[in-house]
Order: sequence, then C-alpha cells, then structure tokens
Amino acid sequence: MQFINQLLLAILASPIPQALSLEAQRPIAEPQTSISQPLIGFGTWNLNVSPENTSAVVSLAIQTGYRQIDAAAAYRNEKAVGVGIADGLKQANLTRDKIWVTSKLWNDHHGDPATVEAGLNQTLSDLGLDYLDLYLMHWPVSSSPSSHLDYISTWKSLLQLPKSKVLHLGVCNFSPRQLESLIKETGVKPFAHQMELHPYLQQNWWLDLHRALGISVTAYSPFGNANPTYDHDGKEYPPALLKNEALVEIAEKRNCTVAQVALAWGIERETSVIPKSTHEWYIRENFEASECVLEKKDLKAIEKVGRKFLTRFNNPSKPWGVKLFEGLDGV
Ligand SMILES: NC(=O)c1ccc[n+]([C@@H]2O[C@H](COP(=O)([O-])OP(=O)(O)OC[C@H]3O[C@@H](n4cnc5c(N)ncnc54)[C@H](OP(=O)(O)O)[C@@H]3O)[C@@H](O)[C@H]2O)c1
Ligand SMILES: *[C@@H]1O[C@H](CO)[C@@H](O)[C@H](O)[C@H]1NC(C)=O
Ligand SMILES: *[C@@H]1O[C@H](CO)[C@@H](O)[C@H](O)[C@H]1NC(C)=O
Ligand SMILES: *[C@@H]1O[C@H](CO)[C@@H](O)[C@H](O)[C@H]1NC(C)=O
Ligand SMILES: *[C@@H]1O[C@H](CO)[C@@H](O)[C@H](O)[C@H]1NC(C)=O
Repeated sequence: MQFINQLLLAILASPIPQALSLEAQRPIAEPQTSISQPLIGFGTWNLNVSPENTSAVVSLAIQTGYRQIDAAAAYRNEKAVGVGIADGLKQANLTRDKIWVTSKLWNDHHGDPATVEAGLNQTLSDLGLDYLDLYLMHWPVSSSPSSHLDYISTWKSLLQLPKSKVLHLGVCNFSPRQLESLIKETGVKPFAHQMELHPYLQQNWWLDLHRALGISVTAYSPFGNANPTYDHDGKEYPPALLKNEALVEIAEKRNCTVAQVALAWGIERETSVIPKSTHEWYIRENFEASECVLEKKDLKAIEKVGRKFLTRFNNPSKPWGVKLFEGLDGV
C-alpha cells in the first residue's frame, strides 16, 4: 500500500515536460468518432488453424455480437483477421465505426517516428483499415540489442502518429517503474494498459493504481493456462484454471460455465476481457459471460483461489535477456 502511494505521488508530482504539448495537439482521451472500449473483446493470438478459418472465426465473433477485436502484428495473421473484420461488418450490417479495433507495435519496430509509423502502416494495410481505435506498445522491449529498453523514445514516436490513423495509445506488459518513468519523462499517460490478469494472477494493488491514475486496463489470457503455448515445463501445477475446483463449484451454483465465471469476474473488476477461441460454441458462451451474475461470496472465494495458485504464465524475461514485471506478483 505504501509502495502504491509513493508511486502515485511520484507520478502525479512529476514536472510536466514539453512533451505535454504533444498531448495537447493530440487529445487521446475521448475522440468523438470512436465508440468506447467494450468490456468484452475477441482475442486473436494463436488464431491460426488456417487463414480461411481465422477470417471465418473473426467474422463469426462480430456476428455473435463482439464489438472489440484484439490484434497484433506479432500474431502474423492480421491479413486474415482483416478479411474477417470486413466480412463480419458486412454480415452484421455494421460500419467500421461501430467496432473497436486494437493492434500492437511489435518489438522490431521500436525507435524513431519513421520506424514506428512504418509498423503502423503495415498493420493498417494488413488489416485493411484506415485507422485503429487503440495502438499498444506490445512490450517495453526492443528487439534491437543497442536499444533494448528504449521504450521512452518509442512512446514519443507513438505520440507523434497522426490522430486520423490512431485514436488512442497504450502499452502492454509494463512494470511499475517502467510506467512511472514513461509518464514522468513524457507527461503523457497511456490510455490503456493490457496485461495478464485472471483468477491465478489478480494483481489487485496494481489494478487499483491504474484506477487511481485513470488508465483503463485490459485483461489478457483471461483463462490463464488454457493458452496452449504457455509452457509449464511439464509441471502440473497449478491445475488448469478452467478445471479449478473452487471455480467449478461457483459455476455450478450460478448456472454458468467456468469460462464465464472467469470472464464475469474480470468484467466485475471493470477490466476489458479479450478471450480467444476458434470454436463457435465457446465464442458464443464467452460473449454471454456478462449474464453470469456472481455474488459477493463468489468474489471472496475467487480471491482465495488467487492467493493459493498465484502464477504468471507469460514471462519471456529469460529468452529475451531482460528483467520484465519487476515489482509485480508471480515473478
Ligand atoms: N499483450 C500481450 O502481450 C498479450 C499476451 C497474451 C494474450 N494477449 C491477447 O489476449 C487474448 C486472449 O488470451 P490468450 O489467447 O492468451 O488465452 P485465453 O483467451 O485466455 O484462452 C484461450 C484458450 O482457451 C480456450 N477456450 C476459449 N473459450 C473457452 C471456453 N469457453 N471453454 C473452454 N475453453 C475455452 C481456447 O480454445 P480454442 O481456441 O481451441 O477454442 C484457447 O485454447 C489473445 O488472443 C491476445 O489477443 C495479449
Ligand atoms: C475453425 O477451426 C476449428 C478447429 O479445426 C473448427 O473447430 C472450427 O469449426 C473452425 N471454425 C470455422 C468458423 O470455420
Ligand atoms: C443496415 O443498416 C442501415 C443503417 O443502419 C439500415 O438503414 C438498413 O436498413 C440495414 N439493412 C439491413 C438489411 O438490415
Ligand atoms: C505511412 O503511410 C502514409 C500514407 O498513409 C505515408 O504518407 C507515410 O510516408 C508512411 N510512413 C512510413 C514511415 O512508411
Ligand atoms: C441455466 O442456463 C441455461 C443456459 O444459459 C438455461 O437454458 C437454463 O434455463 C438455466 N437454468 C436455470 C435453472 O436458471
């Protein structure tokens, strides 16, 4: 608690540097042409059965009612996702401005404004879109060894992108110190921070800090270790989140599925949840998660699950040779 207060004070008391003038030219808070970020969205990582399947699944998600698509250059499927977006809009008789599209700048496009803009241009061309609702720095890490953690320059380059092409800017996977220095050195807070959040990694104080700063939070991997690429080194601990006994019990009591309980818990915390699935049934089930009503005692029980099974599944610190998530839980 003391740490949060110190961090908040440090951020809020920081001198406002000249970069704030960039913010003044670029009101990223509430552009009138965008819908607000929906609390439920559709994830597209590992959506790679085939390009045709990727497009069909994204289109189906929009027809099912999802109004937020979470894409990234690193997922190497933005062309197929773009075809799916176009088809979904057509089938659902919707215009582009009725959905929220997020994408992310990959580590190989950090640095000066031209490099960052080239990354955005590629993503827009692949997705077949004129603009993004939200563009995120995917990691505070550049793949160029000479500027490994030069996320401040990259943020300044992001701030120079034309508003006509990007309505909001944000980050993913930042540590408290990294977020603090980003804000202190540029005077511009991210609109959103996307991070790993699920019942096994609840990060309550970190979420509270974002609330206090007015930064919206998107919860990725809402089903924890359901993502098949999360390597557990052959360990069976923790048990599959979607089979967790306490969660199964809540699901039975509330007549929901465990996946819906995990999403409803995220929505209850006012985070935007972005589950991914290739299966029609799951896509619908996940979309209907807001109908799953949790009671106070369920939330208490889920808090206990978090203390017992605390695990962070997505941490490439070792392979990348950088210290990520310093000061956060599950590291
Ligand atoms: N910013 C970042 O660094 C970052 C990192 C990770 C993820 N993300 C974003 O967050 C999105 C979601 O996270 P994620 O893809 O890691 O994992 P996830 O959405 O938590 O879980 C996906 C897995 O759960 C399965 N599943 C989906 N719905 C289900 C249901 N109702 N019942 C049972 N199983 C179900 C899926 O199976 P099937 O696909 O076989 O149906 C898939 O194997 C990503 O797609 C990506 O857009 C961002
Ligand atoms: C996509 O592929 C999955 C896995 O093979 C399959 O179950 C699903 O029906 C396909 N989805 C669509 C919309 O074609
Ligand atoms: C599609 O939407 C437009 C504008 O909202 C509406 O005027 C039109 O009737 C709709 N068409 C169909 C087939 O629903
Ligand atoms: C990005 O695309 C715009 C056209 O939309 C072009 O003017 C600009 O030069 C491009 N930037 C880079 C770095 O390729
Ligand atoms: C439980 O949920 C299912 C599916 O949403 C619904 O059809 C059924 O009527 C519900 N049962 C009760 C007892 O609420």
